[in-house]
Amino acid sequence: MIEDYKIITITHKSAALKDIGHFVLDESGDISLTDQLEILKEELSIPELIYLPTCNRVLFFFSSENTLDDSFLNQFTEILYPDWGTNLDVFITHEGEDAIRHLFEVAASVDSLVVGEREIIRQLRQSYERCRKEQLTGDSLRLAMDATVKTAKRVYANTRIGEKQVSIVSLAIKKLLESHISKDDRILVVGAGQTNALVGKFLKKYEFSNIAIFNRTLPKAEELAHFTGGKAYALDSLKNYKAGFDCMIVCTGSTEPIITSDLYESLLIGEEDKKVVIDLAIPNNVDHPVPEQFVMDYIEIDGLKLLAKENLAFRAQEVFKAKDIIEQEICEYHTLYKERQIERAFSSMPTQIKEIKSRAMNEVFAKEMDHLDEETKDLLERMMTYMEKKCISIPMKVAKETILPS
Ligand SMILES: NC(=O)c1ccc[n+]([C@@H]2O[C@H](COP(=O)([O-])OP(=O)(O)OC[C@H]3O[C@@H](n4cnc5c(N)ncnc54)[C@H](OP(=O)(O)O)[C@@H]3O)[C@@H](O)[C@H]2O)c1
Repeated sequence: MIEDYKIITITHKSAALKDIGHFVLDESGDISLTDQLEILKEELSIPELIYLPTCNRVLFFFSSENTLDDSFLNQFTEILYPDWGTNLDVFITHEGEDAIRHLFEVAASVDSLVVGEREIIRQLRQSYERCRKEQLTGDSLRLAMDATVKTAKRVYANTRIGEKQVSIVSLAIKKLLESHISKDDRILVVGAGQTNALVGKFLKKYEFSNIAIFNRTLPKAEELAHFTGGKAYALDSLKNYKAGFDCMIVCTGSTEPIITSDLYESLLIGEEDKKVVIDLAIPNNVDHPVPEQFVMDYIEIDGLKLLAKENLAFRAQEVFKAKDIIEQEICEYHTLYKERQIERAFSSMPTQIKEIKSRAMNEVFAKEMDHLDEETKDLLERMMTYMEKKCISIPMKVAKETILPS
């Protein structure tokens, strides 16, 4: 049933971005991410599930016969976020067609903080692949994901929503360029994932030449350092780094703060001038008290919201067109979904008919068959195979013609 599609999400529309970090599941603790999701599936009788964390949302897309009422949400919270308490206002829920619509809008970047940011489609695909490989998903979510990717591609191809691409990173770099930092100043980059790879492209483009990159996995830091012309270091060695910095750009997937007060102080090497600190991670990687304790221009995602709003105004007309396409795709999805239901219902038919044919020839009419010559046996076999194919295709055709609109 299309009504079984469900979404529970926390987004930039329901929470401050720094609070979204609270809902990103910890992957470094005793219980693996897959185990956490398996427990959720089991306890709430969820057959299929996708978990998507990004910088402006945490989203659970799943199938379930249950209604997303307060009782369901309370159970959901108790399992995944036991220390969250009873405030359910932060959760946005979508059910049935509305869940499909939300997923299409997320993928087409209509619902993003920075509308038109294509990064979301990569993140959504990556999350799906990960959940699929861990066998958390099945046929219903596969069908929805295929349609989601198709819709997003159609929106990007037929609107100007992704034109003059902006991203959280580009907005942060805009802020950096507006600050007092110059091309020769020391840039310290922490993290070498997809987001900082994009940061690296901008640093290269604007000809910053004094870059130190720290990452948990050294080869990835080396790769980014090679690209930007910087130097690479292992994250562990950050506490011993004594070359100082003028601008620090931090962005890792760690759910714990990386830049603590002690570490920050040691990185300052006694310098007292104003630094620029950019924290693009959700949850933030710069520990909460640090921006208050030290003199700095602190740029983090929540502060970029105003710039994101200006971007939205530019794209408002394109959002309108995108939503039109999404509604057309939702209509098509209803047909696709019914078609798939029919295919599923009829999926055991070929085997069953083959079995009937085999029983007829080898058991029920076995004696009569023994009296036939080889030529007649062959003819009979071919006639039965012909009938077998018709018996499979005709009911499926009739069902599709009866149920689906012409
Ligand atoms: N993608 C976007 O558009 C976007 C935009 C703004 C903000 N963000 C935020 O940026 C952060 C990273 O996103 P991403 O897309 O760059 O992810 P990613 O490509 O998966 O890279 C993750 C990075 O974080 C490091 N990392 C992960 N867990 C760590 C831990 N426990 N301790 C230390 N380092 C750790 C990884 O190091 P290894 O190389 O050793 O694995 C890698 O450098 C997230 O908080 C995300 O919400 C993303």
